[in-house]
Amino acid sequence: MELELRRGHLQTMAKIALYIFIIVTTIGLSLTADILGMNQSISYGETLVSSDLIFELGFFTPGNSSMSYLGIWYKFSPETVVWVANRNNPLAERSGVLTFSTVGNLVLLNQSNGVVWSSKSSRVLQNPVVQLLDSGNLVLWDKFSSSSNEAYSWQSFDYPSDTLLAGMKLGLNLKTGFEWRLTAWKSMDDPSPGDYVNLLNYSQGLFQYEIVQVDGHSKKFRTGQWNGVQFVGIPPIPIPEQAIVPIFMFNETEISFMFEVQKSQLLLKMTLNYSGVLQVFVTDRSRSAMSNLMHEFPSDSCNLYDRCGANAICSLGLCECVKGFMPRSPDEWKVLEFSSGCMRTIPTNCSKGEGFMEIKRVKLPDLLDVTLNKNMSLKKCKDECLKNCSCMAYANSDIRDGGSGCLMWLGDLIDMRVFEKQNYGQTLYIRLSASELGMHTYAN
Ligand SMILES: *[C@@H]1O[C@H](CO)[C@@H](O)[C@H](O)[C@H]1NC(C)=O
Ligand SMILES: *[C@@H]1O[C@H](CO)[C@@H](O)[C@H](O)[C@H]1NC(C)=O
Ligand SMILES: *[C@@H]1O[C@H](CO)[C@@H](O)[C@H](O)[C@H]1NC(C)=O
Ligand SMILES: *[C@@H]1O[C@H](CO)[C@@H](O)[C@H](O)[C@H]1NC(C)=O
Ligand SMILES: *[C@@H]1O[C@H](CO)[C@@H](O)[C@H](O)[C@H]1NC(C)=O
Ligand SMILES: *[C@@H]1O[C@H](CO)[C@@H](O)[C@H](O)[C@H]1NC(C)=O
Ligand SMILES: *[C@@H]1O[C@H](CO)[C@@H](O)[C@H](O)[C@H]1NC(C)=O
Ligand SMILES: *[C@@H]1O[C@H](CO)[C@@H](O)[C@H](O)[C@H]1NC(C)=O
Repeated sequence: MELELRRGHLQTMAKIALYIFIIVTTIGLSLTADILGMNQSISYGETLVSSDLIFELGFFTPGNSSMSYLGIWYKFSPETVVWVANRNNPLAERSGVLTFSTVGNLVLLNQSNGVVWSSKSSRVLQNPVVQLLDSGNLVLWDKFSSSSNEAYSWQSFDYPSDTLLAGMKLGLNLKTGFEWRLTAWKSMDDPSPGDYVNLLNYSQGLFQYEIVQVDGHSKKFRTGQWNGVQFVGIPPIPIPEQAIVPIFMFNETEISFMFEVQKSQLLLKMTLNYSGVLQVFVTDRSRSAMSNLMHEFPSDSCNLYDRCGANAICSLGLCECVKGFMPRSPDEWKVLEFSSGCMRTIPTNCSKGEGFMEIKRVKLPDLLDVTLNKNMSLKKCKDECLKNCSCMAYANSDIRDGGSGCLMWLGDLIDMRVFEKQNYGQTLYIRLSASELGMHTYAN
């Protein structure tokens, strides 16, 4: 009897010890760090957590996939992955080790210690340290680096996946050609580069942001070109919170766009979803999911690239030929199939009396067959356009200080829309034959 009791007692003691062991182990595991130092590594199931518990880095297996990836997600919403390292090189399920190479690069190893991904920094680090910041940026630096002003040797913010977080840039370094672009996932199960990219299209001093379908090289959306003040034809993102500031930077070295969040409890992300829609989400840190969709690009049907075909204008979702033009295919046009666009009713041929019709508040045509002369006045621009029989239209390239510069379109006018009230557009001058000239404005 006494023996029985004692045995029971011992069993209880053992159980308590076991519980303590489990608790200690569990605590030990949950006391995750935000930093990984030399000779340390992370394996499948282990994570780094940013100091304020906002972001987490580790291995994940998306949807029905059997592959594993190294990624960063919101701690409160593990299904919301914002960055993926080995998009092109998946790991077999439940494998993978993140560690440092001998020269201090971050490397991802598979079961047979093959490198499936690397941070590819050119700088050699003696004492590499990688840290997951509360911004969601994974940064690599040297622990004992002497020069404190040196930037990170590598940062995930420079290599976006499909998501732009506050503080990340989208654009182009004009000196090095380095590009920050978003590339959509292939599908919900597959983070490999999908069908769409969001990039800055820059050529000959003209630029605009575009969503492009990679395979067909077809545009799905464009902002309109920068005119010194705004991207022509893009209403400002309706941001309810003053605490979110969109910042556009344009100087000799870089053209970039980013969001800055001035209240630390707000989280923002802009994701190019795999059907090519760019979605802006904002949430409060206290919430439990990244669900508050704030804005989308394209935002309405007139925003869909080339919706109305050539030489037509989109207004309130409907297409209309520019004055002096008529549907190329009237039957299609009648059934609201606009893609064949419009052609001139009376051809122009540089004959006497030709002139220009003014259309106000318009998203200027896409930068196809366009020439730019930054030095030319609008008056000179008109004269030059009139002289050149293939010149279809002209406009100022910069609207600051009363307007300057000359844009001339020498081919079809693609992807125009007109705004009824707010002036998100610009004034465009379209060539017309003498007999078509008359009324001077397109929309009220
Ligand atoms: C996973 O597969 C099942 C069955 O095929 C399907 O119903 C489900 O939608 C898939 N889930 C994802 C995330 O793709
Ligand atoms: C590991 O990666 C290396 C290099 O990418 C590759 O050659 C090897 O086949 C991979 N091993 C496994 C088991 O996937
Ligand atoms: C930029 O736009 C021009 C004009 O539409 C096009 O020809 C070119 O392919 C675009 N560039 C990129 C990188 O998409
Ligand atoms: C251009 O802007 C970037 C970003 O703010 C800055 O780092 C760079 O020094 C600027 N370059 C010049 C020439 O002002
Ligand atoms: C992408 O966003 C659009 C617009 O909200 C939506 O219709 C579409 O279903 C989304 N695609 C995916 C794959 O989430
Ligand atoms: C130029 O166009 C006008 C109007 O369409 C027409 O009357 C005239 O004959 C044309 N001239 C030439 C040389 O083609
Ligand atoms: C532009 O105009 C300025 C001042 O009128 C002149 O000094 C400059 O040479 C012009 N540049 C070009 C490319 O014509
Ligand atoms: C019209 O202007 C373009 C671009 O400046 C030029 O290439 C073309 O030769 C001009 N055509 C004529 C007929 O002057």
